[in-house]
Amino acid sequence: MNKNDFPFFKDNELIYLDNAATSQKPQIVLDAMNEYYTSYCSNTHRGSHELGNKATEAYEDARKSLAKFLGAQTNEIIFTRGTTEAINLLASSYVKGNFETVILSELEHHSNILPWQLNDLHIEVIEVDKDLNIDLEAYEVLVKEHPHSFVSITHISNAFGIINPIKELIKIAHKYECKVLIDGAQALAHFPIDVKDLDVDFYAFSAHKAYGPTGIGGLFAKYELLENMNPYQGGGSMIDEVSFEYSTFLDPPFRFEAGTQAIAEAIGFKVALEYIKQIKGLQKHDKSLLDYAKASLRKLDGLILYTQAKNVSGSISFNIEGIHHDDIGILLSKQNIMLRTGHHCAMPIMKKLGIKGTIRMSFAIYNTKEEIDRCIKALSRAIRMLR
Ligand code: ALA
Repeated sequence: MNKNDFPFFKDNELIYLDNAATSQKPQIVLDAMNEYYTSYCSNTHRGSHELGNKATEAYEDARKSLAKFLGAQTNEIIFTRGTTEAINLLASSYVKGNFETVILSELEHHSNILPWQLNDLHIEVIEVDKDLNIDLEAYEVLVKEHPHSFVSITHISNAFGIINPIKELIKIAHKYECKVLIDGAQALAHFPIDVKDLDVDFYAFSAHKAYGPTGIGGLFAKYELLENMNPYQGGGSMIDEVSFEYSTFLDPPFRFEAGTQAIAEAIGFKVALEYIKQIKGLQKHDKSLLDYAKASLRKLDGLILYTQAKNVSGSISFNIEGIHHDDIGILLSKQNIMLRTGHHCAMPIMKKLGIKGTIRMSFAIYNTKEEIDRCIKALSRAIRMLR
């Protein structure tokens, strides 16, 4: 399905199952970026020449498309380098100084832990149950004990694929006057997202896991919150007036975009979103691959799965008894199968499970059941060699 759209797969036999780390890019995304560089490469929001205007228009069009994709207003979208930078921006420009406590789940990626620690915020943690699900009642107790806190939770766990019940989590948080950020890094390529329907305060995301380029992502923020936020970085094109005594800044979102932006990447991101929008049966494909992978893995001797949860998307994580996950990763790579092994930047949940890491298969629209069959065959061979 759709594999021909991706030049990466031309003339090779690779099986790429590391899409939670980054996805491959369709030719149309590469073409759009190439067109910018070869025919109207100019800086945005500066000067008044024709090419600069064209680049600014294309960059701002990308913001418009993104806003539409998420159900937001255009001025509620800040471009960042990705989810990590979006969370760091929020920690420094909004949460620090306004909140004492940040509430996280045990499933969080390091990028949703470290920014809070670096800004000296107190962290409270919602535990997950044996299937790695958040217990909503226990969550409500924690939020009730810490009203007026900042809640920051992943939409989909990058390590285990668990989809959190974010709508309920947001509703409960708001009941106790908390504000909420959802880390949507893993969700953008898998789900339709409507920030207004979710009533989420902030939503962070990256393009590169959603068929777009690296180096670009963003932060959705409700405009009334953005208005009162300080700039994250200072530099060109985010100012209203500058003197040696004082400076004033532009309105959001421009106040948060200092310096030359990732222009080609924004243009590529827009095309990636258009590409996602025209895919039919995205979630059906995702579910059928996950179900198939799970059923196929069960045939392996010594399989360890970490969740029986049904609310899973994109990834499946496992181990093989008595074998180190990295050894499996190396032997699969030798058989042209690329997947991630290790802690997946989610050390706290690994520690809770008493493991150092897992083997993770993560899927995209170009993956097939036949590839899963080949992966299982390669896994069996690796297990035989390692035992
Ligand atoms: N966060 C990315 C992953 O899960 C890099 O692999």
